[in-house]
Amino acid sequence: MLSDRHWREILGHAERLRRHPLRELAAAEGRAQAMSLSVGPIHASFARQHLDAQAWSSLLAMAGEAGLDTALRALFEGEPVNASEGRPALHMALRDGAGGGPVAAAASAEARRARERMQALAAALADSPVTDIVHVGIGGSDLGPRLAVDALRDFTAGRFRVHFLSNADGGVAARLLAGLDPAKTAGVLVSKSFGTRETLLNGEALRDWMGGSERLYAVSANIEKARAFGIGEERVLPMWDWVGGRYSLWSAVGFSILLALGGDNFGRLLAGAAMMDAHVRDTVLAENLAVWHALTAVWNRNALGLPTLAVLPYDPRLALLPAHLQQLVMESLGKSVRNDGSTAPVATSPVIWGGAGTDVQHSFFQALHQGRDIVPAEFIGVARPAHGHDDSHRLLLANLLAQAEAFANGADPGEPHRRHPGGRPSTLLLLDALTPEALGALLALYEHSVYLQACLWGINAFDQWGVELGKRIADGLQSQLAGQGEPEDPITRALVAEIRARWK
Ligand code: F6P
Repeated sequence: MLSDRHWREILGHAERLRRHPLRELAAAEGRAQAMSLSVGPIHASFARQHLDAQAWSSLLAMAGEAGLDTALRALFEGEPVNASEGRPALHMALRDGAGGGPVAAAASAEARRARERMQALAAALADSPVTDIVHVGIGGSDLGPRLAVDALRDFTAGRFRVHFLSNADGGVAARLLAGLDPAKTAGVLVSKSFGTRETLLNGEALRDWMGGSERLYAVSANIEKARAFGIGEERVLPMWDWVGGRYSLWSAVGFSILLALGGDNFGRLLAGAAMMDAHVRDTVLAENLAVWHALTAVWNRNALGLPTLAVLPYDPRLALLPAHLQQLVMESLGKSVRNDGSTAPVATSPVIWGGAGTDVQHSFFQALHQGRDIVPAEFIGVARPAHGHDDSHRLLLANLLAQAEAFANGADPGEPHRRHPGGRPSTLLLLDALTPEALGALLALYEHSVYLQACLWGINAFDQWGVELGKRIADGLQSQLAGQGEPEDPITRALVAEIRARWK
C-alpha cells in the first residue's frame, strides 16, 4: 500500500508538472520508446500520459516500496488476498497461469477437471438436435462471456448460436424466446450463488418455455440449489469461492464461449491469458506491463484528480469491452475502506465509461476535446483486421491515432471557439489482431492491473459488499409493490403509490 509520504511525493510531482504541457512532455527525445512495452500480442504506449521521466521513475520506486512484488506472489500462490471473505483469488488457475504452492496447484487441478467435463458436455450437445444456447446470468456471470462471444465472432467454430439473457425485464426474455425453437434450444444457467433474483426468474421462464429442465445446464458453486431447481448433478458445472464473478469467464462460466467458439478457440483464449499471467508473475516491476498500467491509472486518479476514464476500443467487435471493464474495475475498486479498516485517504475507482470508435467520435468526443473536464482515455486498436477492406481499416486506424494526438497536443488556430486545449492524457493498447489469444491477454492484463491498483490503495479487489443494500431493499419492495404493506421511506412510499395508481 502506498503511504502518506508516497501520496505527498506523488502530489509534489503533479504540482511540478502542472507547468509542463503534455505535448511538451510527449515530445521528449526517445519518449515513444521509453514509455512503451510490448508483451505477446499487445503493444502498449503510455507516452501520452502526463508525467515525465522523473515522476515515472519515482512511481516505479514507490511500486517496490508499496510491496507490489510481495502482493503478486501472494495472489499467484493462492494466499487469502480477499481479506474480508478470507479467500484466495485464483482466477489464474482457471487458465493454468497460477504460481507454485499447494493451494494454487489444487485449484489448477480442479479447473482442469472442470474443463474436461465442459468438453464432454459440449460433445454430447453437438450430437443432439440443439442449435441454440440461451446463457442466463447477470454481472460477472454474463458480461465476460457476452464480450468474448461477441468479440471473437470471427472464430465461431462451435456449432451453436449463443444468446444472452440477463436483465429482469420479462420483455427481453419474451422477445428472445419468440425467435427460438424449444426443441432445439438448451439453456445454461450461470450463477455462482444460484440465488440471484434476475437469473432465477429468467431461468424459470426458460424452463417453462422448454417444458422441463432436461436440456438445462447450470454453472454454480451452489450445487444443492441448482439441483433443487431441477438440474441433475451431471449437468451442473462447478464454480468455486476462489473465483470472483467478474474474474470468471475462464471457468465453466465461459461454457457458452466454448459452445460458440469450439474447444480449441476457448483453449486459445485461456492460453493468451496464461501468457499474460506468466509475464505479470515473472517480470520485474519496472518492466511489468500490469504495473505500468496500474501506476498510470493511480497517477491519473490521484495525482491529476481525474474522476472518470473513457474506454475507447477502435473495433466494433470490442464494443462490449467498456461494459465488462465497468464491472471489473468499479466493482473491484469502488471501495473507501482499506483492508486494515481505515478510510482510504485518497479517491479510488474512476467511473468507467466509453464506446467504440469511430461512432463515439460523432457523439461525445466534442466534450472530450473542448469540455472543461479532462477525461483520460484508454484507446484500444487492432493492427490487422479480420477482413480484406484495407481502406476502411486504414480510416479506422487513422482516426484512432488522430484522436489520441489531438487529445494530447490540442491546437490553437487563434479563434477561441476553434481552440483545442489538449492536455488530455491517454494510453494506447495496440493488439496485433483480435485473436482469442490477444483477447485473453488483454482481459488478463486488466485483471492484474485492477489487483495492483487495489494493492496501491490498500483495498480489497475481490469483495463487493456495496451491492447488497439495494438488493435487500428491492426484496421488500416487491411485496409492497404488490400491495402488501408500505415502504418506510417516505419518498419510496410516494413513488410506490404513484406506480400503483397507474396500475388501476
Ligand atoms: O450483484 C453483484 C453480483 O454479486 C456480482 O458480483 C456477480 O457477478 C453478479 O451479482 C451475479 O452473481 P451470481 O453469479 O451469484 O448470480
